[in-house]
Amino acid sequence: MRPWWLRLSRYAIPHWRGLSCIVLLMFAGIALDVLKPWPMKLLVDYVLAGRSLPSAAAWMASLPGQGSAGALVAWFTLATIMLFLAGWAARITQAYIQAGVGSRMAYSLGAELFSHLQGLSLRFHGRRPTGDLVKRVTSDSSCVRALVINVFVPLLTSLVSLVTMFAVMWRLDRSLSLVALAAAPLLGLLIRVFARPMQERMNEQLQLEGEMMSTAEQTLRALPIVQAFGREQQQDERYSTLGRRTGQAYLRAVGAQLGFRIGASSITALGTAMVMLVGGFHVLRGSLSVGSLLVFLSYLASLYSPLETLAYLSSGFVAAAAGAQRVLEVWDTQEGVRDLPGARPLPLRPPGQRGHVQWEKVAFGYEPGRPVLHNIDLEVRPGETIALVGPTGAGKSTLVSLVPRFFDPWEGRVLIDGVDIRGVQLASLRSRLAIVLQEPFLFALTVAENIAYGRPDAHRSEIEAAAVAANADEFIRKLPSGYDTVIGERGATLSGGQRQRIAIARALLKDAPILILDEPTSALDTHTEWQVLEALERLMQGRTTIIIAHRLSTVQRADRIVVLKEGKIEETGAHQDLLEKGGLYSRLHGLQVGRPAPEAGWRVSS
Ligand SMILES: Nc1ncnc2c1ncn2[C@@H]1O[C@H](COP(=O)(O)OP(=O)(O)OP(=O)(O)O)[C@@H](O)[C@H]1O
Ligand SMILES: [Mg+2]
Repeated sequence: MRPWWLRLSRYAIPHWRGLSCIVLLMFAGIALDVLKPWPMKLLVDYVLAGRSLPSAAAWMASLPGQGSAGALVAWFTLATIMLFLAGWAARITQAYIQAGVGSRMAYSLGAELFSHLQGLSLRFHGRRPTGDLVKRVTSDSSCVRALVINVFVPLLTSLVSLVTMFAVMWRLDRSLSLVALAAAPLLGLLIRVFARPMQERMNEQLQLEGEMMSTAEQTLRALPIVQAFGREQQQDERYSTLGRRTGQAYLRAVGAQLGFRIGASSITALGTAMVMLVGGFHVLRGSLSVGSLLVFLSYLASLYSPLETLAYLSSGFVAAAAGAQRVLEVWDTQEGVRDLPGARPLPLRPPGQRGHVQWEKVAFGYEPGRPVLHNIDLEVRPGETIALVGPTGAGKSTLVSLVPRFFDPWEGRVLIDGVDIRGVQLASLRSRLAIVLQEPFLFALTVAENIAYGRPDAHRSEIEAAAVAANADEFIRKLPSGYDTVIGERGATLSGGQRQRIAIARALLKDAPILILDEPTSALDTHTEWQVLEALERLMQGRTTIIIAHRLSTVQRADRIVVLKEGKIEETGAHQDLLEKGGLYSRLHGLQVGRPAPEAGWRVSS
């Protein structure tokens, strides 16, 4: 396995243009930094000392002022100002480009991760808290920016400027360079002492921040329960305790950083003092010019700051690694259901012959070694309505979830219109299905947009017709802005029955030949159920329908009833036949019409 930072660098490649700009500007900045003290050196060593300029700078005599001392003072001053300004310009441009490249890298990684997550199987999502995945997409994905902008670029900058400056110093005075460098081992020692505590404190802070976030998220998500059980106080306390601990951890992290800074500044001061002392003697002895000493002293500040940067890099690296680990973990999960190579669209059969569904010797489970469905053989003919009944946990929802290929079976196959759906393009397969679930999911969009979710191009008249057929038109028109009312988050502004009827309108509008209904009415009262059933009846006309239901009122209307128990088909047949057979179904029926029955585990509905 390649190291994480190498894998992550792949996401930097498309940004090579911006990155090369950054590197070029970085080199320019370093070159300008190196040149900065040189006008001063020439001024002190030559002009102020009354000597003529060295041959390399002899051309300055031809500038206006004819090389007079006064003119040269002005020229060197101007050169210093220009070097400063150019250095600033390079630095500011670099920072600007870095900000752009960094955020583009982070957002494109986040977008890729988001799209990868959408493709992962519902089994994966069933096991992961949504908040955690959201954090991975929106905030952990910035690890690539942290890696490139906060680690790689400063690392390169520090190394290049260290080497260049040291080379110049070495040419000026070797022994003095060694004195200056004597501070390096001390700085190294300081890094060793402080790097680990700085990292640990920072990790502690990040971890606590994560806990705070998930506490807030979970509490707000479960607010009805929190309020109903009167646990607000405890949640408040939990949050503020976490807040206090995070604050303390942050202070400890800052403390460690300040300790490091104090140490680093002391060493820098000590190094500067040593260079001044030794350099001063060198100048007195005549082995070093005053200007060169000035160059030395000005380089020292620039020499020690890259060293300091290198010390901080390790903590930046650790922070990026923490995010990268969470990103790559999702990235390495491949348990999605995808189009196989060579997948084809589902062939379109003439009306009356489309919507044939067949399970052939199907076995499936969520966890290896724990099958939920065993050897299922079931055929639903075009236009037929079958009702799936059975104890809770029998595998009814699991059985229908194989049709849209939310999961692929372990063994056997699922066929639609005679074609194994594994070889079919997912988009084409799912365009032939309409699904209504027990918990209708509505988005924070307008009512019309929610109904048109499966067919965004639908005309307003079609949307309204679907709503009429779903018995929803009347209440929708009474909403504040009718069809343009934006539904409150999690459908809070609508009742359960109203939301379910919008979900039915959505399925109606999709006009798909196969309809899957997973307990569409079990959350509703009898009156509302009747309204919804009436709407469903219209929806089911001329379509293959698989309806999971517990209520006899719903089940009796089906052409055929399939009774599932512990992942196996226990019996199938029409309502009357099954009653006469006296099996599991008749016991369920007995329970609902009030006769006592010994079978445990049935859900009893009013
Ligand atoms: N996402 C999942 N991951 C792991 N196991 C699951 C998952 N969903 C369902 N199961 C398990 O599979 C079995 C069948 O569940 P399924 O939801 O299909 O039952 P059901 O017949 O629809 O029940 P109910 O009437 O309560 O809706 C159960 O034992 C359940 O624990
Ligand atoms: Mg179910």
